[in-house]
Amino acid sequence: MKKVIVKTSENSNNYPIFIGRNILKILPEVLKKHTKGTKKIAIIFDDNVPIKFKKLLKKLLKNYDVFLETIKFNEKNKNFSTVDKILKKFLRKNLSRSDTLICVGGGIAGDVSSFVASILKRGINFVNIPTTLLSQNDSSIGGKTGVNTDYGKNIIGTFYQPKFVIIETEFLKSLSRREILCGYAEILKHAIIKDEKFFAWLNKNSKEILKLKNDKLLISAITKSCKVKRHFVLKDTHESNLRMQLNFGHTFAHSLEALHGYSKKLNHGEAVLIGMLLATKLSVIKKVCNDKEANKIFEHYKNQKINFNLKNVVPKNKINKIISLMINDKKNNDNKINFILLKKIGKTTSPGDHKLSTSELKKYFPKLINLNF
Ligand SMILES: NC(=O)c1ccc[n+]([C@@H]2O[C@H](COP(=O)([O-])OP(=O)(O)OC[C@H]3O[C@@H](n4cnc5c(N)ncnc54)[C@H](O)[C@@H]3O)[C@@H](O)[C@H]2O)c1
Repeated sequence: MKKVIVKTSENSNNYPIFIGRNILKILPEVLKKHTKGTKKIAIIFDDNVPIKFKKLLKKLLKNYDVFLETIKFNEKNKNFSTVDKILKKFLRKNLSRSDTLICVGGGIAGDVSSFVASILKRGINFVNIPTTLLSQNDSSIGGKTGVNTDYGKNIIGTFYQPKFVIIETEFLKSLSRREILCGYAEILKHAIIKDEKFFAWLNKNSKEILKLKNDKLLISAITKSCKVKRHFVLKDTHESNLRMQLNFGHTFAHSLEALHGYSKKLNHGEAVLIGMLLATKLSVIKKVCNDKEANKIFEHYKNQKINFNLKNVVPKNKINKIISLMINDKKNNDNKINFILLKKIGKTTSPGDHKLSTSELKKYFPKLINLNF
């Protein structure tokens, strides 16, 4: 089992992440240590997680007063109405601030549950047990909570750190290849923006990682990814500057998700994979990155057989709509769109360096979507 300690820039909310296979059994011991005083435990359980884990959790938590809420999460119900329903149920159970909410689910379940934990009685203990590859290597770390509204994705939320995170790789066994690839998107992003060696390591090992056959490689990939995320969380917990580098590709991704109505036609991880391609191409157009570096990324996609029909996902006749959705992105503090661009593998531009007006972006868009790789 690997253990990574996440430190925040406030220095008060440090917490451990435990990563390994068949490690869920440590839950009672870690709860005792990190959530002292807890009597009641509310579990939010993602409906698609195999039922055997529900049974295991109930057994492990037999010494607590446990109530479990199973929810079918998707981007469309990642909203206030779901938060309201959960809050009402938990208020009826009269949880106190020393009680604990555990989320067992993917990134959507995690973002919604941590938001609930952060506002219920002004904050109760939160523990995350992420069950998708994306949530295990990215969203369960760093304390960003949130829900979508008609104005944009994750546009309402708080910063709220978990008491600890358990990353149990056994959960990944029931995920489709599509969901594994979505999770891989954020692993790849972390390598591209911060760690050239990690990128080279992925070039060598990603096929094995994506097959989930080699525990050692899988756990290493998740751990390396968590460490990149940890770096940014420590430097800038509340995303006032440096942490925005983690949004490489996300300005495009969020607008594409909104364009497709947050539907299963385009999952978040897929939007990120496409967004990173567009951001890389934009980096070349803006002469921030050379073709050779950009080609390393395009080659990586090719080798993993990651390809999309960009004409369908980013239709030419929707360019104005996509740009207007980008303007709403919460990382923009004026009417220009703030992009994190790539200088080379392992290094991005700084937040605020590249702000594009809508007219400038309109000019570049046809080139971006004619991307051949
Ligand atoms: N808070 C952050 O820092 C942060 C970072 C990155 C992404 N996110 C958010 O994370 C979300 C995406 O997360 P995701 O990719 O995990 O999507 P998700 O939560 O929709 O999960 C993907 C699918 O897998 C199912 N699932 C979950 N665990 C499973 C399991 N073990 N076996 C079978 N099916 C399972 C889910 O029910 C869902 O249908 C987005 O909303 C994104 O905005 C947040």
